[in-house]
Amino acid sequence: MEIDWASLRAAAIETMRLAYTPISDFPVGVAGLVDDGRVIVGCNVENASIGMTLCAECGLISALYASGGGQLVAISCVDAAGAPLMPCGRCRQLLWEHGGPDLLVEALPQPLRMSELLPHAFGYPDMDRVTGRVGGAADVPPELAKWRGRGTVFVHPDISGGETIWTGYWERSSGEPGSAEEKGILEEGPNLANTAAAVAWGLVRTPRIVVVDAQGNLSWAGEGEAPEGIPQRWEEGRS
Ligand code: THU
Repeated sequence: MEIDWASLRAAAIETMRLAYTPISDFPVGVAGLVDDGRVIVGCNVENASIGMTLCAECGLISALYASGGGQLVAISCVDAAGAPLMPCGRCRQLLWEHGGPDLLVEALPQPLRMSELLPHAFGYPDMDRVTGRVGGAADVPPELAKWRGRGTVFVHPDISGGETIWTGYWERSSGEPGSAEEKGILEEGPNLANTAAAVAWGLVRTPRIVVVDAQGNLSWAGEGEAPEGIPQRWEEGRS
């Protein structure tokens, strides 16, 4: 993807001027290019309770999700002089999770990759090695981010290594009768310890969750009223 650094920097400078910095008088602006071509921005917002300061990059990541998610491809972060500013340590971790090792960060004389700014980064693989857990909130694969909020997750028990586990799958269709939606499985869930964990896996993806127990009984664990044909609501602790 072509990166127009000049316009990214211009958007960062414009946003820097909107920053709220009564404590430090150090406004910061950031602009990011998303993998679908969107440009999003953020500025720092300080607070009398000084430790609560929100860096510009925090606003950027919120803007990323508030405008549809995706992965960051490039960012330009600037100080009051409009010069490239290196993200602070905390924000490098934040950017890592939403841009990965190849995210380009404007720097002089040339952009740097996140893998240079945060070598040996801590991430989910470090946790998964210890907990044995796979999956979780951050693991909606980037290519499926556009499906968030759509489709249906079916949660069900399964046998793995002789033990009953819970898992699920994310299906494109919302099951509306008569609709001409695309059908098919978007993602298979990980093996999880109980129904609640599988429901939680689903709720990160869509508000429509159907629990199918070992007997094939359906219950609704999604938001709002159960749709027609699903006789009961799933309650934690019941299955
Ligand atoms: N700041 C950012 O917004 N991003 C950074 O990466 C560096 C620091 C802000 C936080 C605070 O409002 C001010 O700059 C001084 O630290």
